[in-house]
Amino acid sequence: MSVREEFDEWATSGRDKGMEERHWHTAKHALARMPVEPGDVVLDLGCGSGYAGRALRDTKDAGRIYGLDGSPEMARNAASYTEDGQVGYVVGDFGSLPFAENSIDHVWSMEAFYYAADPHETLEEIARLLRPGGTFYCAVNYYEENVHSHEWQDNIDVEMTRWDRDQYREAFRAVGLSVAEQDNIPDREIAIPSEAEFPLEDWDTREAMVERYREYGTLLTVGVAP
Ligand SMILES: C[S@@+](CC[C@H](N)C(=O)[O-])C[C@H]1O[C@@H](n2cnc3c(N)ncnc32)[C@H](O)[C@@H]1O
Repeated sequence: MSVREEFDEWATSGRDKGMEERHWHTAKHALARMPVEPGDVVLDLGCGSGYAGRALRDTKDAGRIYGLDGSPEMARNAASYTEDGQVGYVVGDFGSLPFAENSIDHVWSMEAFYYAADPHETLEEIARLLRPGGTFYCAVNYYEENVHSHEWQDNIDVEMTRWDRDQYREAFRAVGLSVAEQDNIPDREIAIPSEAEFPLEDWDTREAMVERYREYGTLLTVGVAP
């Protein structure tokens, strides 16, 4: 199944908003760390409902925001959630980003980068369009150390790349991005029931659920363009 088919279906069934609600638990902490200054141009790769760009407009007075998504229905939904003329959503693919060299101040991506058909090619694209000193904030919940995420590939037909922390850093450096930071952001908002309530439908033990949300959470890797 193509990205378009898979995620158009998610968008029309309202899962864009469901993702926004869940991802916001950790995304908001990573977004708060972005060195976005008033007027900066920001690109959100795999924007889904587009909440991240809108938050950067509200909290940091970002200038132009572009949300790019491979699903036309996601982009359509995202556009319908705002009347801000400085926020635009475009349909495109991670393999070839429709932006000029040195045209973007910061790139953000939450739970999307690993869907790239060729993540190394996507990183080259990001390095090409970032201005000197620009940053790439890459946040993922699906990664090697997070063993609780490994089964996710079984539920989706789009091929996913499962890198570990080192592979993210090496791949960033290979395209010339310095790694300024790598961190696990815990999700403290998911309610974890008391020991007596386990096993749950999705979790055999409380220990595993604590590890997934409070310890592993979201892996954030930050690259900086030279
Ligand atoms: C799991 S959703 C995350 C959406 C949003 N960033 C969030 O935090 O809720 C992944 C998004 O990436 C988009 N996507 C996946 N692969 C893509 C690709 N190769 N090119 C462009 N967009 C892609 C999907 O259409 C989907 O909207």
